Amino acid sequence: MAIKDFYLGNKPYAIISFFFLVTYTVIAQKEIEVPISQRVFELMAKMTLEEKIGQMNQYNGFWNVTGPSPKDGNAKEKYDHLAKGWVGSMLNVRGAEEVRAVQQVAVEQSRLGIPLIIGFDLIHGYKTISPIPLAESASWDLEAIKNSAAIGAKEAAAAGINWTFAPMVDITRDARWGRVMEGAGEDPYLGSLIAAARVSGFQGSDLSNPNTVAACAKHFAAYGFAESGRDYNTVDIGENTLHNIVLPPFKAATDAGVKTFMNSFNDLNGIPATADKHLQRDILKGDWGFEGFIVSDWGSLKEMIDHGYARDKHDAGSLGLNAGSDMDMESYIYISELQSLLKEGKITIAQIDDAVRRILTVKYELGLFDDPYKYCNVEREQSISGSQEIREGVLDMARKSMVLLKNDQSLLPLKKEGQKIALIGPLAADKNSPLGNWRIAAENNSAVSVLEGMQAYKGNSIIHEQGVRLVNSIPAFHEEVSINNTDKCGFKAAKKAAKKADIVVMVLGEYGFQSGEGRSRTKLGLPGFQQELLEEIYKINPNIVLVLMNGRPLVLNWADEHLPAILETWHLGTESGNAIAEVLYGDYNPSGKLPMSFPRSVGQMPLYYNYKSTGRPGADGADAGSVFWSHYGDEKNTPLYPFGYGLSYTEFEYSDITLSANEFTKGGTIKASVTISNIGKVKGKETVQLYIKDHFASSTRPVRELKGFEMVELEAGASKKVSFEISEELLKFYSASQIWEAEPGRFSLFIGTNSSTKRKADFQLN
Ligand code: BGC
Repeated sequence: MAIKDFYLGNKPYAIISFFFLVTYTVIAQKEIEVPISQRVFELMAKMTLEEKIGQMNQYNGFWNVTGPSPKDGNAKEKYDHLAKGWVGSMLNVRGAEEVRAVQQVAVEQSRLGIPLIIGFDLIHGYKTISPIPLAESASWDLEAIKNSAAIGAKEAAAAGINWTFAPMVDITRDARWGRVMEGAGEDPYLGSLIAAARVSGFQGSDLSNPNTVAACAKHFAAYGFAESGRDYNTVDIGENTLHNIVLPPFKAATDAGVKTFMNSFNDLNGIPATADKHLQRDILKGDWGFEGFIVSDWGSLKEMIDHGYARDKHDAGSLGLNAGSDMDMESYIYISELQSLLKEGKITIAQIDDAVRRILTVKYELGLFDDPYKYCNVEREQSISGSQEIREGVLDMARKSMVLLKNDQSLLPLKKEGQKIALIGPLAADKNSPLGNWRIAAENNSAVSVLEGMQAYKGNSIIHEQGVRLVNSIPAFHEEVSINNTDKCGFKAAKKAAKKADIVVMVLGEYGFQSGEGRSRTKLGLPGFQQELLEEIYKINPNIVLVLMNGRPLVLNWADEHLPAILETWHLGTESGNAIAEVLYGDYNPSGKLPMSFPRSVGQMPLYYNYKSTGRPGADGADAGSVFWSHYGDEKNTPLYPFGYGLSYTEFEYSDITLSANEFTKGGTIKASVTISNIGKVKGKETVQLYIKDHFASSTRPVRELKGFEMVELEAGASKKVSFEISEELLKFYSASQIWEAEPGRFSLFIGTNSSTKRKADFQLN
């Protein structure tokens, strides 16, 4: 009525109404403008100690939440805790309806109605699967990687998720470790840029946008350095490696505004990371000013007992909180021990309050207090899940992630017509392996296989034979598949197919679950009978294109020596077969570059390009008469394919490097340039890479380190000048004085197509 009167020109009413309108607007605005810190403060003033500790407690999904509620056992207890407000977060509850059901218990039954934050391992896509992170990293395309995280976030957020346990930013140098598939590879510079891209992809510019989720940098820290590449194993590294190699991607994630961190299972230099106060309180929350919260890894508080570090659960709770772990994932320790620890004076209320403040702040930032059901709209879920936009996004990422390892005699791209193709291998028609390891919400067998992708090109005839079968040792459990090593009955048909074919495409590698958590391996060849099959087929028809599917670097010496063409496709996700067929047929020109070195032998592990020189460096091919240099008697030191390596269907030529000056003083810069030309026949992309070597320093420095890269796309015959600015910032490292600084002296820079480039120029920092 008031508004109507106002417009009808009824003066007294109009004035009163106007007054009310203004007052209402001011109050409403004030409501909105109450800063989050104030809202957290006011809420915490109402919370009991139990409720505060509850916020620090995270449970795994524990019953079919949309069915009848649990009556007994552990699930009943968890349900009661939820209803009392003693649970701050749940993980692995998914789907708009299921999340709404648990959220309802927390919000509508508990005294203060504090919403849950819902965590999930959104590692490479939710239902629509994108390439495994190692594959995405091979694109070196930061925009594409960011977009891939953003579309994953959109699909997951529509299914109730608002927090992903990603990105995993662990640098790793050991392909035996199964989790190399989950990270960005071996280099801290590339790894830092990718960490930041993923964080901003997941979180967007506004965390309260219902298409974004809070990100989590994990595993803090040094999990990727597990001894012998055996998962969960001890890590023993010095300060130099910790600061120069391990920590930079975590710092980059922090600077990109990541909302949460996860600590890790491993013991780092004698202290389980979960209880590492120096890492969590001094470095992360202190020096780096991280304002978000830290979640433990799954049961990692409890595992400190097995590490022989915590006496019992009680002790583990005290060690964890004192060290700065804010939330307990599935150890049930904070919920059972923190109250008594507080009474005993082993922890402080300030520590609890700090943890709760951090957790509630992220919940407010997500907008969960304004609408706890904002991620729980079933119609929205249905319209976003598997949508065209998301499928196109994962296809785009898949194309960009492949690395062409060999292409002699230009066997690739394949002719589109008139060819008889034998498509052979256990993974050729497999619709499960391409989904990789972290695909909890995806339907099994939902990827486009290579066979399907190739069949979409109608001009050739394709005969498909498995050659080696996939064997499911526990039929009900789709993860327990292996590649057959007991019977060769498929060899005969595969050989027959190869004999008749113009070209053989062999799809070999690792089954999707052969890499990932708990999937360490001591052998890095092709598993099962695949190598034998490959060699048998080669004797019949050597015109082989090897299409590899794997989650880690493999040893490929035989293939490299004998085969004309090798394409690394990793595990590329839902659109796998379509992307692979586009590359095989030349509709997409591959441009990926390896984010990890590929070894010649498993005995070279750990293997990485930015190693340090020994006092006896020698060189592969050095004088065979002497053995007293750092080398192996039976293998080269160098990798088979170096970090940064990858070919194209066209060819690029680099000019010599020109420097704008060959010295500069701190605060100044110089410019290093090359001209790159496409001297092949088709358009293509090349990632121009800059490496720098610091010749002498207060602590020893790597033989070279990646310090810049630029992706250029050139038409056949075209050229472009690419320049890098060299600044003091670029030359900084964690020095013997335990600070990041650039030390004056002599440097070399290298610009080229991969980390082994010899194109070099020298300069001096004064
Ligand atoms: C892994 C984490 C993961 C967590 C929750 C742990 O086993 O190490 O990376 O986020 O489980 O699924």
